[in-house]
Amino acid sequence: MKTILVTGGCGFIGSCFVRMLIRETGYSVVNLDALTYAGNLANLDDIAGDRRYRFVRGRIEDAGLVAELCRGVDAVVHFAAESHVDRSIEDASPFVTTNVLGTQVLLDAARAAGVQRFVHVSTDEVYGSLGQGDPPFEETTPLAPNSPYAASKAGSDMLVRAAWKTYGMPVLITRCSNNYGPYQFPEKLIPLMTINALEGRPLPVYGDGRNVRDWIFVDDHCRGILAVLEKGRPGEVYNLGGECEKENIEIVRLILEILGKPEELIQYVDDRPGHDRRYAMAIEKVKRELGWSPATDFRAGLERTVQWYCDHRQWWEQILSGEYMEFYRRQYGERLQ
Ligand code: NAD
Ligand code: TYD
Repeated sequence: MKTILVTGGCGFIGSCFVRMLIRETGYSVVNLDALTYAGNLANLDDIAGDRRYRFVRGRIEDAGLVAELCRGVDAVVHFAAESHVDRSIEDASPFVTTNVLGTQVLLDAARAAGVQRFVHVSTDEVYGSLGQGDPPFEETTPLAPNSPYAASKAGSDMLVRAAWKTYGMPVLITRCSNNYGPYQFPEKLIPLMTINALEGRPLPVYGDGRNVRDWIFVDDHCRGILAVLEKGRPGEVYNLGGECEKENIEIVRLILEILGKPEELIQYVDDRPGHDRRYAMAIEKVKRELGWSPATDFRAGLERTVQWYCDHRQWWEQILSGEYMEFYRRQYGERLQ
């Protein structure tokens, strides 16, 4: 039986991936997560007691810890990152520490331990921004990141590439478009707008609301990562995406419609500095080589997601009240960032 070290498994996408591995495959999982503000043990309550699952609290920049964890694992799937663009605009340094330095520490440890596959989970944001009529990003599109977040992810992608070119390390890179689904931290567009609408608070739309993202349901993304882990060619980059371009304002209006709330809640606010206009992914390579494609219809996925937030008030109320950070403080008795 194979063992996979997952980093960042208590976050939004990592927790979906860990759940998928435990429920739908025979792999054992070691989940290394620092439990930053975005990491939440409650995201994995349903599988935490499984014999094939082990949680380790720690940082990917901790060379001693990751060296120990890499010994005896067959593969690494690396999600751990600072992931929010607006936070990176406020302060880029945690993004450099985790996304750039942390990735290199993890690469070094995995190489020393002879790990057989290293999947680096990256983003379409490394390619920069598209104009309205431009063709979607391909794997060969030059990297042109515009936010500190995207720049730090591009830096990590380059280090992963270098590990392949220099040492022949069996690495694979996935670059995916915007995810949505249950357990997404309420700082991101869809959960933030859903919760604000539920609470009757204003929905802050940046700029003219016409920026375009390519949306994918989180389970589809995780199935794509699994396909790359199992069947991808080492040294390759695979774009993953939803083939589902939407303007932000369209999504906000849909959420209000699903919840039966008035459009008067929409409030246009100052634009995000350096706000990328449009992302769109070409995913022919992964379709052709690995037979993967996104399966979830956007309207159905959004309704499921909005319903999940309606049904899991306690999950997000605890986050918004800071209660879950208090829990960690009691549990681990140490200062959290
Ligand atoms: P998230 O912010 O919800 O979760 C990140 C997780 O990483 C948290 O559990 C956090 O505690 C952990 N973490 C952060 N710093 C750490 C460190 N130094 N050491 C160990 N653990 C640490 O993020 P997400 O949305 O689930 O994204 C996961 C990955 O997918 C990221 O690498 C992100 O760049 C990438 N990605 C995200 C999206 C998206 O739409 N959310 C799209 C494409 C790619
Ligand atoms: P976000 O979920 O932060 O993802 P990313 O910036 O990584 O694509 O934002 C998605 C889009 O929604 C982006 O164009 C910014 C916009 N947005 C708003 O208009 N208002 C908000 O409050 C947030 C968080 C995002």
